[in-house]
Amino acid sequence: MLLFETQLALIEHLKHISNSKTTIGFVPTMGALHEGHLSLIENSLKNNSITIVSVFVNPTQFNNPEDLEKYPRTLESDLLKLESLNESIIVYAPNVDDVYEGKTVSNQFDFDGLENQMEGKFRPGHFDGVGTIVKLLFEIIKPTNAYFGEKDFQQLQIIKKLVEKFILPINVISCPIFREKNGLAMSSRNERLSPNERQSAAIIYKTLLDVKSKFNSESVAEIKKWVAQIFENQIDFKLDYFEIAEEATLMPCKEINPSKKYRAFIAVFVNNIRLIDTVSLN
Ligand code: PAF
Repeated sequence: MLLFETQLALIEHLKHISNSKTTIGFVPTMGALHEGHLSLIENSLKNNSITIVSVFVNPTQFNNPEDLEKYPRTLESDLLKLESLNESIIVYAPNVDDVYEGKTVSNQFDFDGLENQMEGKFRPGHFDGVGTIVKLLFEIIKPTNAYFGEKDFQQLQIIKKLVEKFILPINVISCPIFREKNGLAMSSRNERLSPNERQSAAIIYKTLLDVKSKFNSESVAEIKKWVAQIFENQIDFKLDYFEIAEEATLMPCKEINPSKKYRAFIAVFVNNIRLIDTVSLN
């Protein structure tokens, strides 16, 4: 495994090892790597000549300073995991100045409205931060294929839109959600849950599965009311939002059109820790 802390050193190295046939697989992460990340990286290793993993907690995508401060930073153990997965992985773990070059601010993006729903509504500026960092990383790494998990489904759609709008020659590859034994979607934030919270957070995925089975027989309004009630009865949980939205546009669904694909999206605070999850409904 090779670790680069500066974009200059990384770019120089890539110049030496690549030729016109080289394919670069890129997995952007904010560290605290779990099996979900490792599955993205394995996918990249299988399908590219070079795999690059970035580990960078991007300040501009956090709208809540406490969330940024408490975000797990576990570089040493991340590097051990990467090393034991495959020695050929290249890691880019820069500091803020190396990426932002002294100007730690987001650019503003128009993602055709995808940015205004759900996470965009509840975390103002979040997708400008994500768009900014992913575009910067794409410019540095110039990947052939970039890998993103479906847990952040809205982010995935936004990255596809970013690639389309800026006509970037990059394939965006989506990978399925990895779940803990109890169904909880794997997330770096799970590290911050107590063992009891981690166990009881299984209710998030269980609720989504119940939504999926209600989807054909109950109205969207009835389902939303039911989900709100489930979380009202949970002392340690606070529902941030629950939405049923069309996959392609992420527009909230009021009435089901059987020719369209829909997903349920949820964000829940377990005490102060915010978790998201999603399932496809049809
Ligand atoms: O999904 C994440 O971990 C982050 O949003 C990403 C894509 C690495 C950008 O900081």
